[in-house]
Amino acid sequence: MDDFQGRVAVVTGGGSGIGAAMARAFARLGSRIVLADLDRAGMDGVVSEIAAGGGRAIGIECDVTDLRAVERLADRTFRELGAAHILCNNAGVGMFGPLAAATENDWKWVMSVNVWGVVHGIHAFLARMIEQKQGGHIVNTASMAGLAGMPGLGVYCASKFAVVGLTESLARELKGTGIGASVLCPMIVNTRIDSSDRNRPKELQDPGAKKVSINDVAMTVARVIEPEEVAERVVRGIREKALYILTHSESRDVLRRRAQRLAEAAEKLATG
Ligand SMILES: NC(=O)c1ccc[n+]([C@@H]2O[C@H](COP(=O)([O-])OP(=O)(O)OC[C@H]3O[C@@H](n4cnc5c(N)ncnc54)[C@H](O)[C@@H]3O)[C@@H](O)[C@H]2O)c1
Repeated sequence: MDDFQGRVAVVTGGGSGIGAAMARAFARLGSRIVLADLDRAGMDGVVSEIAAGGGRAIGIECDVTDLRAVERLADRTFRELGAAHILCNNAGVGMFGPLAAATENDWKWVMSVNVWGVVHGIHAFLARMIEQKQGGHIVNTASMAGLAGMPGLGVYCASKFAVVGLTESLARELKGTGIGASVLCPMIVNTRIDSSDRNRPKELQDPGAKKVSINDVAMTVARVIEPEEVAERVVRGIREKALYILTHSESRDVLRRRAQRLAEAAEKLATG
């Protein structure tokens, strides 16, 4: 998909950070935007900014962990805007700390947003996007933590590996439909991810648990980049139909080491 003009782009988690930047970038290119987020005030700010720039956007309150809510989002998008061409399953939360300390609630919360949120987006939109026969593109936000395991990020890595695997399968299944699929895998981006807890439902909170910051566990020496740079990469990735959208050149060494370890393990088998 290389023409954003007149397209409809749905961005979950569009009220802040990477989602807001993607929405602004698509709007600048002439797409009409549907933001979906828990954060009404955040979405209102992005909608106003887009309108001030001459673009069109609406914000719909939606909890991506709730399939019915995501189905309602899809219904409203198709009813009010007539189509959906770009779907960014981007809403996500960060939870950091060693696996030995992770609670059942930590797992439930992170999986419900980072994995089920993406699954619900695919479930509610994909069949209709195929049926409308107008082409399009799906971008699922994973992370570099979805391409390499990292200490202190086990729960988050597990959720993001799922998003990578799902998207690799999706891209292959969509061949011939005119719809592309990409998985976005940034390293560190200057957003509100370190305060993801603000969106943690009460019933999944563990009062008294020690809060671990991303800065306490991020082992990589990656630059902190701005969401706008990520959004530019996403636009380019959609145009180039790239399966993997990476944002940091620093990821090269991490990926090389992983690929090498895997190749060595296979080599060992092959050579007996
Ligand atoms: N910031 C980083 O360093 C980084 C790196 C790699 C991947 N990511 C991923 O990027 C995506 C966007 O995160 P961000 O960094 O912009 O953080 P952010 O906290 O600034 O934005 C996340 C948005 O998702 C929304 N959200 C959270 N739970 C939700 C739910 N249940 N339903 C609907 N919306 C919900 C929040 O309200 C927020 O507006 C996430 O999937 C995150 O895992 C971020």
